[in-house]
Amino acid sequence: MGLKQRAFDWLDLRLGVRDILQQNLTHYLLPRNINVWYTLGATLLVLFSLQFITGIFLLVYYIPNTEQAFASVQRIMNDIPYGWLVRFLHATGSNVVILVLFLHMLSTLYMAAYKRPREITWIFGFLIFLVSLAMSLTGYLLPWSQLSYWATTVATESAGATPVIGEAMIHFLRGGPAVGEFTLGRFFALHVMGLPLIFALLAGGHLFCVRRIGVSRPPFGPDYLPEAPGTSFHHTDHSGGIPFFPNYVVKDLMVIAFFLTLLAAGAFFAPQLSLPPEAFEPADPFRTPPGIKPEWYFLAAYQLLRILPNEFLGLVVQGGAVAFLLFLPFIDRGPERRPGRRPLFLGLFIVGLAGFLILTVWGYLS
Ligand code: HEM
Repeated sequence: MGLKQRAFDWLDLRLGVRDILQQNLTHYLLPRNINVWYTLGATLLVLFSLQFITGIFLLVYYIPNTEQAFASVQRIMNDIPYGWLVRFLHATGSNVVILVLFLHMLSTLYMAAYKRPREITWIFGFLIFLVSLAMSLTGYLLPWSQLSYWATTVATESAGATPVIGEAMIHFLRGGPAVGEFTLGRFFALHVMGLPLIFALLAGGHLFCVRRIGVSRPPFGPDYLPEAPGTSFHHTDHSGGIPFFPNYVVKDLMVIAFFLTLLAAGAFFAPQLSLPPEAFEPADPFRTPPGIKPEWYFLAAYQLLRILPNEFLGLVVQGGAVAFLLFLPFIDRGPERRPGRRPLFLGLFIVGLAGFLILTVWGYLS
């Protein structure tokens, strides 16, 4: 018996590893008509892990104070071996992660995977999405560049449109009247500790729900019928389906390879997409650079605030959209999941997505 086999048997005797692997890999069956969109969850796991790893490496040399932050990042870029690569991967990675988050959310939305019994899975997912946006926002400030400083000034300013407590909110977010050392301190604490902790708890909850309930059957094909709501818990199993390992893992790996290639291409050939020229100038509170814009995923929200007659109205619309999406499983409750048979949902989905894209492009161009 080889050493590998002996080690495996040793572990199996103590922890029943063979059983765990069978249950979660070869005997874990997925729906026969499963599609490529179900690979995005696994892709997110890989991309987020990479963000954590590159983030930890950056943390080794990054110094979180206004005097030294910018210089410490320049040192990472210029003096530390492969520091530039780690930084470009982290900055480009944040954009790829948000892109895949959007795709994962849109596909589960389109296939109505948020419906009973997956309401809690959706809520965990949507909270992860909000935390991820907060991670991007807080991370943006850390290099203390002109881009960091002014993008954060603009972003925190919009909270000022809240009636009565607007000023207090700005003060609370910034730790003072203007973006400064206290803003950097709290954003740093949130970015490297507070938010990742919340993120890990939420991601654990999300994955627990996914595994406990079982993935949904895609609502397509001639023999699809909506599930009747049960009166007791049952795991959705897919007898006669395809095994997760090796069959679906191969598909997962293909999509993961695609997004890693996109990430590498971005980091090597187009880092300026994530880090425009203002990211290479130190923060100067007395010089506002022309045309500072938030990241692409905040452009729709930013443009909405600019086109509505009053900023408070913009905040209400944004808050309403977030609340609507968060509680969607409790608003849209019928068992039907086939998009073709849900014209109201499909109409809203298309209008919502088109509106978001139009506002994003408009925000970019104006
Ligand atoms: C770090 C972020 C996330 C990770 C690692 C993650 C991971 C996963 C995984 C592995 C699955 C099962 C396979 C699949 O359908 O892809 C899944 C399913 C699901 N995810 Fe996520 N997810 C994340 C974020 C989100 C977000 C932002 C939402 C929505 C707002 C969401 C909603 C859902 C739903 C509803 C399902 C059930 C799909 C089904 O059973 O058909 N997830 N997620």
